[in-house]
Amino acid sequence: ALHAQIGPSILNADLAALASECDRLIGDGADYLHLDVMDGHFVPPITFGHFMVQSLRKTIPKSRCWFDMHMMVENPDRFVKDMADAGADQFVFHVEATSNVEQTIRKVREAGMKVGIAVKPNTPVEVVVPYVEHVDLILIMTVEPGAGGQKFMNAMMPKVQTLRRQFKELDIEVDGGVSLDTIHHCAEAGANLIVSGTAVVKSENPRNAMDSMRDAVTK
Ligand code: DX5
Ligand code: ZN
Repeated sequence: ALHAQIGPSILNADLAALASECDRLIGDGADYLHLDVMDGHFVPPITFGHFMVQSLRKTIPKSRCWFDMHMMVENPDRFVKDMADAGADQFVFHVEATSNVEQTIRKVREAGMKVGIAVKPNTPVEVVVPYVEHVDLILIMTVEPGAGGQKFMNAMMPKVQTLRRQFKELDIEVDGGVSLDTIHHCAEAGANLIVSGTAVVKSENPRNAMDSMRDAVTK
């Protein structure tokens, strides 16, 4: 059986105190950290790049927690080497953002990171099926990328189900609007990597929030 893991998104955390925010989330039981990189092109906002990741690694070594980079950027190839050197563990790029998916996969692998492909809400899941055998995970977006705190799109669950039916061992990640109110949809559809931003970071008790969500996806 696949291991269910909870990766808080730090997008809505206090970015000026990111190291201590991450430290607190790990202490509260985060299985990994989901780091949202936005370039002002693929999505309108800008967040941070590899220099931030490099700095975070000074307080959070690889042995303590793995970093899941959600690359909401055009031409993700440009950032592969910098992110690997900065200490990223997993590089998830958008299928909509690269003109050569196979080449991007190859570059990420050569850089020594795990590789994943993300799918925006309007992109059919069939687009990524041919690449599944060559990646570590598929990320099904359950909101339009660009901001935290949006409403979970239940209509994306058939994409998760389609993948799960065909690929029993694939890691399937969901991201956007996932909370204790919506996680059962993700669990039933077959997702096992669960990103949750505001529902964890803005919670009064992030540990309880993450524990309850993990229980909900652990069969
Ligand atoms: C959206 C980001 C998400 C987001 C999740 O563009 O990719 O990771 O921060 O935040 P919530 O859980 O609040 O939707
Ligand atoms: Zn994300």
